[in-house]
Amino acid sequence: MTTAVQTKPGQIETRELKPGFGAELLDVDLATADAATLAGVVDAFHRHGAILLRDQTLDPGQLTAFVANFGEPEDHTQRQFTLPGYPKVFVLSNRVVDGKPIGAHNDGVGWHTDYSYKPEPVMCTMLYAVEVPDEGSDTLIADGCAAWNALSPEQQARLDGLKLHHSYQYFMATREFGRQELSEEMKAANPDVEHPLIRTHPADGRKALWPSTGTVTHVVGMDKDEAEKAQGLKLVDELVEFLTQDQFVYRHKWRVGDVLMWDNRCTLHTGTLYDDTKYFRTMHRLWAKGDAPY
Ligand code: SIN
Repeated sequence: MTTAVQTKPGQIETRELKPGFGAELLDVDLATADAATLAGVVDAFHRHGAILLRDQTLDPGQLTAFVANFGEPEDHTQRQFTLPGYPKVFVLSNRVVDGKPIGAHNDGVGWHTDYSYKPEPVMCTMLYAVEVPDEGSDTLIADGCAAWNALSPEQQARLDGLKLHHSYQYFMATREFGRQELSEEMKAANPDVEHPLIRTHPADGRKALWPSTGTVTHVVGMDKDEAEKAQGLKLVDELVEFLTQDQFVYRHKWRVGDVLMWDNRCTLHTGTLYDDTKYFRTMHRLWAKGDAPY
């Protein structure tokens, strides 16, 4: 358990989510917060890698306005699950209304960083809890900077400069939940990309171990044959396993009204399963645009 830190007058009181990573921002009501408070929330986000604000009541319009404080709200690849009238609000849910799912179910299960298959992956992800199960469905966030710092200088030298090849088409054809053959239009809109394995944070130059699962087809330069590809993917799997050890991971247990946000430039995250025969889970997810990783 971490203790609350009282900052200077006018500043937001915070409590670490886990030692050295993430912050819960206390006594902030996002629906009524003034510009100075919102600037403090954004500042905390950039410094801590993840932020949590509990007991919020935000409608879809307020959620869209709030995420715009972090950057231009990003569109979603699968448009069928955005809220009618609110194209930036994506619904994660196991509810079915009139025979139709209202959201994507188990969409974020598996360690990943959002939009890794795009040239400019989203900078931040925000989840707002509308309804949550009594048990299960935690969201886990892994601190890529702490993992990078825990590597030896020799390991760091070996990894720095490596690039990963990401493919949305491959991801959608092989994923466990919501598998899909892409239309020609979707393929054309989502060509493969390459991103660094070690990412530099533009705010202060800190480095993060930044692999992903799902979208990665191979390590760039390690694709001369199947054996070499497999060797590269084994390295990626080992790095994901290293990064997602308990010591680097914050586990979030949801309450209705939680706003949890993380910085995709220095973290991986995953959803977890729950008993979807017993419980409903509905989240609103919003993204703010990012830039090209380096
Ligand atoms: C996501 O990966 O975007 C969602 C994670 C979750 O549902 O917990």
